[in-house]
Amino acid sequence: MTSLTIPELIGIKRDGGSFTEAQIHHLIEGFTASRVTDYQMTALAMAIYLNGMSPKETAALTLAMRDSGRVVSLGGPERIYVDKHSTGGVGDKVSICLAPIVAACGVRVPMVSGRGLGHTGGTLDKLEAIPGFSVDMTVEAFIEQTNRIGCALIGQTADIAPADKRLYALRDVTGTVASIPLITASILSKKLAEGIGGLVLDVKVGRGAFMQTLEDARELAGSLVRVGHLAKKKVTAVLTTMDSPLGRTIGNALETREAIELLHDQAPADLKEITFVLGAEMLRLAGVAKTESEARARMQDTITSGAARAKLAEIVTAQGGDARVVEEPDRLAKSKTRVAVKASKAGFVHGIDAMEVGLTGVAMGAGRTRADQAVDPAVGIVLHAVRGDRVAEGDTLAELHVQARKGTKEWADRVAAAYAIKKTRPGVQPLVLDVIRR
Ligand code: URA
Repeated sequence: MTSLTIPELIGIKRDGGSFTEAQIHHLIEGFTASRVTDYQMTALAMAIYLNGMSPKETAALTLAMRDSGRVVSLGGPERIYVDKHSTGGVGDKVSICLAPIVAACGVRVPMVSGRGLGHTGGTLDKLEAIPGFSVDMTVEAFIEQTNRIGCALIGQTADIAPADKRLYALRDVTGTVASIPLITASILSKKLAEGIGGLVLDVKVGRGAFMQTLEDARELAGSLVRVGHLAKKKVTAVLTTMDSPLGRTIGNALETREAIELLHDQAPADLKEITFVLGAEMLRLAGVAKTESEARARMQDTITSGAARAKLAEIVTAQGGDARVVEEPDRLAKSKTRVAVKASKAGFVHGIDAMEVGLTGVAMGAGRTRADQAVDPAVGIVLHAVRGDRVAEGDTLAELHVQARKGTKEWADRVAAAYAIKKTRPGVQPLVLDVIRR
């Protein structure tokens, strides 16, 4: 307990001070019980964003947020339950293809995900593009489904890390996302509450990531691995590049479709590579594969045999969705019309500014600018030219999937300007920048 009032506590962080563990617990308990209001929490989030937190404060914040709800026990040996989480990128639909692949390999994947945040998309919004799919489930149903079919894909419930659920929505619309302590506590609070033994983190680095430099991303990865380890979990952080969007689609139904296409072995190379790198780490943490090559072979088998598609169909059915989308992705929502984005000059694509493309997607209605907004699953952007491609003047670089043509010029111009086109061919850009294991 603390004798200080909430405004006094906010003032400590505003003035650059440090919290005690008890003060952090008091704030999060108060927020969970609605004694600390949304506006007070937003002010606190901004103070943390501006002044940071020590590793000790970050760990205390994470554990307080984890304990704001139930900490699940899944029933089996902890080691077989492994999850993956991304710090957020543009076009990052990996969870939707990775979870069924890994579950089809025998790992149990209890996955609690988030919605779009800032310029990045969220797994929950993408899953809800599947007609009927529900991301809401009781903890009992979550445990039962994870053990029965090997995977459940849900959002934070009122039971699992409710403090993160509310804080995440506030941060999304108040410019307080890109903070290492807040991201660490947000990701790990819900992941530590899931009952997992291992966690693979995809820490995105670059223009379209919350961490734009390798140095910052390493710091975030270090913070996540350190706090995860303190909570006695096996944690691996993979630093992956996020300068250009991942794959070729941005927008909820479009991304879900691309993830399903991966299960038909028809995915862009970068999406498949990131999926396999993260999946191999998950299989190793669960003890299902000893080496990366063994893990890759097992994952490829689930695609070739159709086992991963069957697993996704099982998950979709269990969560009330129309599983026909797995074999017939054309059933996913489509926008009414398309607008081509043309190249204004010839050359090679050196990159596509993922931040700009992500923000354009949000402006088009694929993401939110207010916490209470709905997203339109059908709208988004399809990239026809990507890094390394040669384009001629007037070629279609991308297509906007929109509901009406009116007012789309600004978006088309923004996407066109996001393309860096130069005379010379670009060099190879590594997708994986580092792996931190503990
Ligand atoms: N993902 C989360 O769950 N939380 C964040 O703060 C950022 C990415």
